[in-house]
Amino acid sequence: PLATRAGMEILAQGGNAFDAAVAVSAALSVVEPYSSGIGGGGLWLLHRASDGFDTLVDGREYAPGAASATMYQDKDGNVIPRASMDGPLSSAIPGMPAALVYMAKKYGRLGLARDLAPAIKLARDGFPLDQRFHDRLVGKQALLQRWPAATAVVLDQGQVPAVGWLLKQPDLADTLELLAKQGDAGFYQGKRAQQMVDGVRAAGGIWTLDDLRQYKVVERKPLTGDYHGMHVVSAPPPSSGGVVLIEILNILSGYDLAHADPVQRIHYVTEAMRYAYHDRADYLGDPDFVQMPLRLLMSPDYAAGLRATILPDRATPSSALTSVSMPQLGNNTTHYSVLDKDGNRVSGTVTVNFSFGSCFMAPGTGVVLNDEMDDFSSKAGVPNGYGLVGNSANAIAPHKRPLSSMTPSFLETRDGIAILGTPGGSRIISMVLLGSLDFFDGGDARSIVSLPRYHHQYLPDVLEYEDGAFTDAQVAALQKMSYTLADHGHWGNMQAITWDYKTGKVTAAADPRGIGTGEVH
Ligand code: DON
Repeated sequence: PLATRAGMEILAQGGNAFDAAVAVSAALSVVEPYSSGIGGGGLWLLHRASDGFDTLVDGREYAPGAASATMYQDKDGNVIPRASMDGPLSSAIPGMPAALVYMAKKYGRLGLARDLAPAIKLARDGFPLDQRFHDRLVGKQALLQRWPAATAVVLDQGQVPAVGWLLKQPDLADTLELLAKQGDAGFYQGKRAQQMVDGVRAAGGIWTLDDLRQYKVVERKPLTGDYHGMHVVSAPPPSSGGVVLIEILNILSGYDLAHADPVQRIHYVTEAMRYAYHDRADYLGDPDFVQMPLRLLMSPDYAAGLRATILPDRATPSSALTSVSMPQLGNNTTHYSVLDKDGNRVSGTVTVNFSFGSCFMAPGTGVVLNDEMDDFSSKAGVPNGYGLVGNSANAIAPHKRPLSSMTPSFLETRDGIAILGTPGGSRIISMVLLGSLDFFDGGDARSIVSLPRYHHQYLPDVLEYEDGAFTDAQVAALQKMSYTLADHGHWGNMQAITWDYKTGKVTAAADPRGIGTGEVH
């Protein structure tokens, strides 16, 4: 809610959606550092109303220059558990600060300093610790306690503070202020860069000043697709999100889902997820490093070929495609959607990866560093923290971006638009898919974010569903079709906006599974 407020404040000051996105991202660094922040990265899908221009600002982290394909393996070639997740060796070079500078300058109206002001104030004055933040601290207390700077900022004498405790982050306020005053140089060069490199290296990391200095935001052309006339705009590589989403929709457009009974519909959707996530594992990585058959993967003919192999009444075993274990449930990362009065839009997904990222903070910086290195494939075929497998396309290399699942998206029909996205690691894409199908069926933002969810990612070969998403009869019917099912509680934290052209109504909704708020003025 405090980040939403920061965005609304900037809109009220005459800022556009892009200014608001900068303000929200920066505020999230302060109020939700377990999910996203300037020590991490993000992907921002922008729509400029004046000329209809769509673009993706890629502020994804990249690997340090001393990183290597086998850096998380022991001398026998086994992946060292958690090496790519804990401490500064798991941190890639942050992209968010550069992205905020870039967006404010190129697309915003108010200037970086005004956009960052609400976040700086929140960091300096503090805010009362909420229940969600408290619970995340409990979850990561032991890891945070390993690093004195992190301990000093988010713990109270080494212990998790009570809900309501005033959390002040003066170092983070200073870091944001340096960014506001000096732009990129405030973070990627000079004093803060030196502190980060010194802190990271003293704790076993491999960052260099050059790694920071050379980081660059890349603007990329979004991917587009079509589902029965609904125009889909989504994130290109280094995210797998758009490719997988569009591939699934292409497969599904050959079915009459509107008239399929619910079990039949779940079956087709799941099979399409399986095939597309399989292609993710096989082909996708950083476009600056690997060549990918994107046109093929997103072509309707290719989808038709896959569809022809799907039986109407039986699950395809994933082992028939090509092997691996259970993903860990993730609940970090943040998504937000912004629409301003001129029709400019931002769909932004921002992350430090797992809860509190690496849990590491370099002394004096106030910045929680990400553990995005785990989004690479540490070894071909060995699952990462989300159970995702990959091969050389997503192997670690110096200054390469790890493959993401973040899927900030726009949907456009004759009747209106939707802006949507969510955290959830590998489940992001399937959530955005289900949200897209719901919008197609007439759902508004509230319906899209509340929808019960299910997910299949090829490996493990398990159809996961939220409590209550399937009836007992549906579970039985799916088991009869040879599905292995797992009830996984709840996941995701979707933030969506819909605008119905016919009624003029704008709906902004936050996922009931989280603590977010949607505001319309
Ligand atoms: O870029 C990615 O795909 C992941 N780093 C996102 C992590 C995430 O969504 C964590 N939330 N559960």
